[in-house]
Amino acid sequence: MKISILTMMPDLFGDFLEGPVLSRAVRKGGLEMEIIDIRDYAPGSFRHIDDSPFGGGAGMVMRCQPVLDALRACVKTGPAEETGKRRTVILSPVGRPYTQKKAHEFADLDHLILVCGHYEGMDARIYPHADELVSIGDYVLTGGELAAQVITDSVVRLLPGSLRETSIREESFENGLLEYPQYTQPAVYEGEAVPEVLRSGDHERIRKWRLQQSLLLTRKMRPDLFEAHTLTQEEAALVEEADRLLKA
Ligand code: 6GU
Repeated sequence: MKISILTMMPDLFGDFLEGPVLSRAVRKGGLEMEIIDIRDYAPGSFRHIDDSPFGGGAGMVMRCQPVLDALRACVKTGPAEETGKRRTVILSPVGRPYTQKKAHEFADLDHLILVCGHYEGMDARIYPHADELVSIGDYVLTGGELAAQVITDSVVRLLPGSLRETSIREESFENGLLEYPQYTQPAVYEGEAVPEVLRSGDHERIRKWRLQQSLLLTRKMRPDLFEAHTLTQEEAALVEEADRLLKA
């Protein structure tokens, strides 16, 4: 797949592109990364890509023309001109929340286009040219560049060959629950022992313990996820058992 990032700050992506997950995915052939400098599409000697807002107020607003010309050029040269498996996403704190489910959706595309917002915002006439508006959380960043890196990282690690697939299936959010706790050597560290079940070699007991830990951890740390999760019969029994043991 190809991921194109439209930005006014292309320098912010240097080290990011050199990172191990991305450079490996590019080398192995599955991924093409493109950083587009929106300023290259602003004509004239000032190359101004922003202007003051109509109606007054603080800050600057990104202008339609450079952003939309950059976007059109990006779509035209992208790999999805025929297949149509392309998504244009504007990164903004007013977008819909980004989730692991979205990461899987994006990983299935031929062309993902991420447009980084900056300043106080964008001219609202740009929004209808995107398929969606996405936010990475309830806080405000200076620009969409970090959000674009967050999204790119989470998508690229799902591409075939990036990671072992079992390690993806078992991690947090993939089944709507947080991942169970993990341990490695030594078996006892400063008096703290690894739970006995994990050293038992009994795979069925280990599976049940991990599922139970996942459920309890999710209920404690993310009651919102726990509420949204429909318990299987086995899961309900494991939660009940844990609560019974706690009371006793
Ligand atoms: Cl996508 N952009 C900005 N500027 N701030 C954010 C964000 C995005 N997501 C959360 N905060």
